[in-house]
Amino acid sequence: MILYLFIVGIASASAQDITSNTTTDSPSCSFCIFINTTCYSVSYMLNLNATFRTEVVIPKMVLLRSSNTLFYSFEPLFEDEEYYKTGFVKLEGDSSTHVINSGQIFNFGTFDIDQDNDLIYIGGSDGIYVIDAKTNKMLSYSSRGDTITNIFFKNFVYFTKYNEKGIVVKNGDYFRTYYEDVYVKNFIVTKYDVFVILSNTGLYVGKGDAMHKISSNVFIRGITMDLDGNIYAWWIDELYKVVLGSKLKYSELVKVAEIPIIGALAFDNRNNILFTLDKSLYVMKKTNSNCSIIPVNDE
Ligand SMILES: *[C@@H]1O[C@H](CO)[C@@H](O)[C@H](O)[C@H]1NC(C)=O
Ligand SMILES: *[C@@H]1O[C@H](CO)[C@@H](O)[C@H](O)[C@H]1NC(C)=O
Ligand SMILES: *[C@@H]1O[C@H](CO)[C@@H](O)[C@H](O)[C@H]1NC(C)=O
Repeated sequence: MILYLFIVGIASASAQDITSNTTTDSPSCSFCIFINTTCYSVSYMLNLNATFRTEVVIPKMVLLRSSNTLFYSFEPLFEDEEYYKTGFVKLEGDSSTHVINSGQIFNFGTFDIDQDNDLIYIGGSDGIYVIDAKTNKMLSYSSRGDTITNIFFKNFVYFTKYNEKGIVVKNGDYFRTYYEDVYVKNFIVTKYDVFVILSNTGLYVGKGDAMHKISSNVFIRGITMDLDGNIYAWWIDELYKVVLGSKLKYSELVKVAEIPIIGALAFDNRNNILFTLDKSLYVMKKTNSNCSIIPVNDE
């Protein structure tokens, strides 16, 4: 019932003009949801513009923090020879979108950002490229000829390759492969070098040789970290937190919210949650208003 109202709210919000900002902190919060025990207000920001397919698929979003620019990968129209592209839009000021174009046919389906150096590592059908956001120059970086399925940046570039097991990390000209027996569909690496890995048998946390399964859900759509290092995972309509135990084997996947549909999810420079529903981008902010629905924890 409440979720139904929420969907209606979202649908009418998305019909609004980009410039009309809905207020967030009104006491009668009409579009609020609990994430664990904290109430968040939801407001529409803008529509991501691209030559999307009929069903909009945005698997990944990451904010380039220095310029408040949101990068997102998406699936273009079927007629397009490329089946993945990456676009970007500034979240302030001029909100026109741009699509990364190499001048050749590449499928840029994955990327991550070296925030300290404004470098975007982008991968797809022909290895990894690096874009310097200051100059917009794109250079080949690694693994020409390989199809890259995931990129994650933490001091080094970590990546996975199509049909190959393990996570490769590139350190200069030296490559090392972690979890060589694991077929990795998605992953992140925390500050403390804990790997959170979605494989074809579930979600795992790993450090060194140790690896523990925390969920058998193989359909998790994404894994990301907020600015405080909290780890979130989501699938169709459920948001989870990966709570790492003091001993890795006590780590858990905890459901913290139900959201009608989550496409991609990321965090802005104030640690607000950005998420997509179709091509619409929403922001969720902590609010002092009262959420009208019951926190999932109290169920
Ligand atoms: C949920 O909130 C409670 C109370 O604030 C806190 O103790 C608990 O750690 C939170 N759970 C998660 C998964 O963040
Ligand atoms: C929307 O995207 C198209 C193609 O990707 C581009 O040509 C157009 O300029 C974009 N419009 C805006 C307002 O960003
Ligand atoms: C939220 O609910 C509490 C208790 O029902 C009430 O005291 C408080 O004033 C409410 N806050 C707002 C912002 O409506």
